[in-house]
Amino acid sequence: MRIVLLGAPGSGKGTQAKKLMADRNIPQVSTGDMLRQAIANGTRFGLQAKAVIDAGNLAPDEVVLGIIRERIGEPDAENGFILDGFPRTTQQALDLEELLDELGTPLDTAVLLDIDFDILMKRLTGRRTCSETGKLLNVYFSSQEELDACTEAGGELVQREDDNEETIRHRLDVYHERTEPLIDFYRSRNKLTTINAEGPIDEVYERLIAALQ
Ligand code: AP5
Ligand code: MG
Repeated sequence: MRIVLLGAPGSGKGTQAKKLMADRNIPQVSTGDMLRQAIANGTRFGLQAKAVIDAGNLAPDEVVLGIIRERIGEPDAENGFILDGFPRTTQQALDLEELLDELGTPLDTAVLLDIDFDILMKRLTGRRTCSETGKLLNVYFSSQEELDACTEAGGELVQREDDNEETIRHRLDVYHERTEPLIDFYRSRNKLTTINAEGPIDEVYERLIAALQ
C-alpha cells in the first residue's frame, strides 16, 4: 500500500501514520521528522534546514525529493509506505509521480485529513513529544495517564520550536497557498479520498481504515 496523507499542520498526519504503520507494517515516511533528525544530528545541511523549519517555511523541492528518493528505496519500503508531509507543493507532487512511474509502483491513494482550521491552533500549541518514548502527546487532549507515562519513563514533554502561535499561523498560510492545490491535483488523478479528521484519534483512525478498503 502506497499512500499520501494530505492535511494541514495539526490535522493528525503523524498521529494516524504511526497507528497505520504499527498495524500494516509499512513505514511512515515523514519529511518533517527526517528534516528534524538532520537538525538533531548537527550536520551543515541540518543547520540550513533549521532556519527554514523554525520560520515555518518550506525546504526546497529538490532537497525533499532527494530525501524521499533515498528513503523509499530502502528495503522496508518495498511493500509500501505512508507519506506524511510530502508532497507539499505541486512540483513535489509531479516529482513524486515521475519517481513512482520510474519505479513502476504507482500511488494507491491520497487521503485528505479534513478539519476545521479553528481546531488546529489548540492541537499544535498543545503538542508535546516524549523525549524518552517518542510518543506524540497533547497537553489538552491526551489523558493524564498518557502524560504521566512519559515522566514515569524518565522522559520530558518536549515542544517543537515551530509550535508557537506566530509560526503556526504562518505554517497555516503556507499550507493554504502551497499545499491546498494538491487536493485538486489528486482529485484530477482520481486518487483523492477525504475523511473527517475531527473527533477522537481512534474514531479518525477507523475512518482512515474504512477509506483504505
Ligand atoms: P511537518 O513535521 O510535516 O509539520 P506539519 O505539516 O506542519 O504537520 P504537523 O506535524 O505539525 O501536524 P500533523 O498533521 O502531523 O499532526 P500531529 O499528528 O502531530 O513539517 C515541519 C516543517 O518541515 C515544515 O514547516 C517545513 O519547513 C518542513 N517540511 C516538511 N516536509 C516538507 C516538504 N515536503 N517540503 C518542504 N518542506 C517540508 O497532531 C498534532 C497534535 O494534535 C498532536 O499533539 C496530537 O497528539 C494531536 N491530535 C492528533 N489527532 C488528534 C485528535 N483526533 N484529537 C485530538 N488531538 C489530536
Ligand atoms: Mg507531523
